[in-house]
Amino acid sequence: MTLGRDKLHFLNTPTPLERMNNISEDLGIEFYLKRDDLTNYGTGGNKLRKLEYFIKDALEQKATMLLTIGGAQTNHGRLTAAVAAKYGLKSAIIAVDEYPGEISANLLLDGIMGCHVYLVRQDGEHTEIELMKQAIHDVTERWEHAGEKVYFIPMGGSNELGVLGYYDCALELDQQIREMKLPDPHVMVTVGSMGTYMGLETAIVNEHLDMRLTGIGIMPYTDLRKSAADYYRRVKDTYHLSADLKPEDLDLNTDYDCGEYNNPVHEVREAIYYMGKHEGIILDPCYTGKTFNAILQLAKNDYFRPGETVIMIHTGGIPGIYTKHHRTEMELELMKYMHII
Ligand SMILES: Cc1ncc(COP(=O)(O)O)c(C=O)c1O
Repeated sequence: MTLGRDKLHFLNTPTPLERMNNISEDLGIEFYLKRDDLTNYGTGGNKLRKLEYFIKDALEQKATMLLTIGGAQTNHGRLTAAVAAKYGLKSAIIAVDEYPGEISANLLLDGIMGCHVYLVRQDGEHTEIELMKQAIHDVTERWEHAGEKVYFIPMGGSNELGVLGYYDCALELDQQIREMKLPDPHVMVTVGSMGTYMGLETAIVNEHLDMRLTGIGIMPYTDLRKSAADYYRRVKDTYHLSADLKPEDLDLNTDYDCGEYNNPVHEVREAIYYMGKHEGIILDPCYTGKTFNAILQLAKNDYFRPGETVIMIHTGGIPGIYTKHHRTEMELELMKYMHII
């Protein structure tokens, strides 16, 4: 039970907290990964922790189908499909997006898990939000007419319920930090729809955890600090929490968003190759690659103290590597490793 809410326990937690020996040596910091990419359904990732709460709520409401939204390559959608499959529910994803020309990466995994994907085209007349709202209404009506009870999960699972997944993760990480006696830990995490960051931050300030948190934005936001403070206020009101947070209390870095969501970026790919070559661990080009690129740039600019304990939460997303627009760029750069003899 966390803040009065219960969940279904289907994850192989605690996920490992691993020291990256080669990177630590190279950067002169104590660099750790919290391996949430290793969570155990649908090829893993951060959204599973949120889904432990959503599936409990959905089953209590006698739902027979999970419906969520995102981009065509949504990791959250893929993991929603996985959890739906595990609990015998149907699943569907709605994306306002173009057909990418092939069923690859997350779309392929969605199909394997029997998830229906609805792609909605821009029509030049309505906003993306209007199109999405209409599609949610239409798809829900279609399935409910066919006898299903649809449970809707918002974008990225980032609402007041989803936040609890990373509240739990912060407590789990705190325990590991204590056991491993890591001094002054500085946790770095990707910020997308923000539920992951907010869960960690909410636990840190309300449970008085001894860790510093920095969120790395991976796309341009109008006012990330303000949206974060607004989100926290909703969480605080829902669970009657005591700690207050103002926008200026939140350590959110938007310097490494690379200008667009899910865009192919050379330096992000370089960060992915660096991690792959040094540690044999794979990052993704949309989220964790951008966060690790930020960490590399910050380390280069002496942002971290020598020997500082830096923990990056590896939130998964690896199927993103196989999307056409990322894969083709990497194929060109990595051709040098292909030898035909
Ligand atoms: C792999 C990965 N990392 C990080 C995030 C960001 O998490 P959040 O949306 O909770 O901010 C996402 C969101 O989709 C993700 O798929």
